[in-house]
Amino acid sequence: MDWGMKNRLSRIIKPETGRTVMLAVDHGYFLGPTTGLEEPRKTIEPLLPYADSLMLTRGVLRRCVDPSSNVPVVLRVSGGTSILGNLADEGTTVSMRDAIRLNVSGVALSIFVGSGLERQTLVGLANLVDEAEEYGIPVLAVTAVGKDMNRDARYLGLASRIAAELGAHFVKTYYCEDFEKVVRSCPVPIVIAGGKKIPEKDALELAYNAVQNGAAGVDMGRNIFQSEHPVAMIQAVREIVHKNATPDQAFDLFNTLAQEKKIA
Ligand code: R5P
Repeated sequence: MDWGMKNRLSRIIKPETGRTVMLAVDHGYFLGPTTGLEEPRKTIEPLLPYADSLMLTRGVLRRCVDPSSNVPVVLRVSGGTSILGNLADEGTTVSMRDAIRLNVSGVALSIFVGSGLERQTLVGLANLVDEAEEYGIPVLAVTAVGKDMNRDARYLGLASRIAAELGAHFVKTYYCEDFEKVVRSCPVPIVIAGGKKIPEKDALELAYNAVQNGAAGVDMGRNIFQSEHPVAMIQAVREIVHKNATPDQAFDLFNTLAQEKKIA
């Protein structure tokens, strides 16, 4: 791995803890104005000081994030489909030249293992790795799970391992039972998505179980920005990821910060 690649990766996964809190706000690329992200700038700005990196599209990056902010960017470079169409039919939507112009620390694309279009997305990943490595840019493979797939260790382990075999530098997948098996069989760091909004305490437990079972952190979206108290929530997630806080400790912090906000 060359210096630039290592440098960019260490901007995302913090060397002090070997972990990361990525803030995922890329949902609009196929969902449009998702709840909580209708006005991306308003959602993102207060969370930025607590995010180790920001995962988003170039359109939102250009229009809704101050270029003087020093947050590392993991740019989503796959898409081309919507919730109304065939989600697996993604292609690459950003050139490497534009990614470099945007000074990104990483690029992300989804793979759809088990779908009729798995070959297209897997070859897309391999090609992206070839191109990104030319410039020392790490690639995050996102294991998208179709409605008819099981989010279990067998499927997520298969998809994560294939992503790593094709050269992804880190993988984003879902937490599941026997998650340690997914981590053990994947030779690159794994971060977990939060998934649909669930109660804060449950989301904190999810993050805790993931890191305690080997995840290098989270790439969390809805469970942060759809919380009634997103700034408190991201800080609580940080306590778990970087300080090994228990879910109870993190939930106490969440409640304290949320209360302070109400009083202020
Ligand atoms: C989905 O493909 C997107 O990359 C989202 O960013 C991802 O699902 C993570 O967000 P959430 O924590 O809301 O699941």
